[in-house]
Amino acid sequence: MPEGTGTSRRPWEVAVAHGKRLAVTAEDLLQRTLSTAGLRQPDSTIAADAQDYWRRPKGSRWAADSHWREAPAFRGTDLWDRIGADHLDLFEAGARMAGFSRSWDRVVEWGCGGGANAVRFAPRAKEFIGVDISRESLEECGRQIASVCDTAFQPVAVEVANPESALGDIDGVCDVFLCFYVFELIPSPEYGERLLRVAHDLLAPGGLALIQIKYETGDWRTKPRRRSYRRGLANMTTYPIHGFWELAGRCGLVPRGVRLVPRNELDERYAYFFLSKE
Ligand SMILES: C[S@@+](CC[C@H](N)C(=O)[O-])C[C@H]1O[C@@H](n2cnc3c(N)ncnc32)[C@H](O)[C@@H]1O
Repeated sequence: MPEGTGTSRRPWEVAVAHGKRLAVTAEDLLQRTLSTAGLRQPDSTIAADAQDYWRRPKGSRWAADSHWREAPAFRGTDLWDRIGADHLDLFEAGARMAGFSRSWDRVVEWGCGGGANAVRFAPRAKEFIGVDISRESLEECGRQIASVCDTAFQPVAVEVANPESALGDIDGVCDVFLCFYVFELIPSPEYGERLLRVAHDLLAPGGLALIQIKYETGDWRTKPRRRSYRRGLANMTTYPIHGFWELAGRCGLVPRGVRLVPRNELDERYAYFFLSKE
């Protein structure tokens, strides 16, 4: 999620920003203490809160969180453009490493948001399928694709509680499955297992997935939050790196490599997994 970037700020603005960061840290520690004490919220409650948050546009924080190009947080920077450009470079490097050389006729992006990745991957595909909770983000993704290419776009809306419904809405299989800046904000690690099984079912044999997660380090403050979705949505779900590797294997995907990004301009502790379906 982008924070205020770039422009020089007055001392009182710096002090207010610092105070806000302290308040956020204190709130996060409180929620984690409650979770560690066993006061977790059930997945169904977190899923309902997630649905409520993402479903409709709600101003500039929502637009930034959904990675819409025109969000104030991206204005005057090239950050939005670099999201998709960097992911395309990474995918191409991973595809070479994994020996994935087939054409990308069908690409699925899970949680496509405002289309930052779609504008880079769709021109390389015959068909681009975007899956998201928000119909408005799906429309925005479609507009962004249409501004760069005439690749066919299929928007697929899902409810947080039922990601498996996408299997009924998408006919046939895909060559490439992508998911960026989404696993950190799903309700729980167990929900992520459901998404991996959906990815497995959507991929054609020989297909390649690139899935980004946020990793935990062993420090209790980096574990899944499991409470109070709206105030800590970018830290809801984390995995140990080896844990996600093994989980993907149990879901029928073969881990081919992982790239770690300990920090970038949006956040920290990212791991990108290349997973193939044999
Ligand atoms: C941070 S944005 C990322 C957008 C895009 N992937 C990118 O990298 O720019 C997160 C997106 O995931 C969507 N989302 C949240 N929970 C989801 C879920 N359980 N399944 C599918 N999409 C979800 C949100 O509506 C939002 O559009």
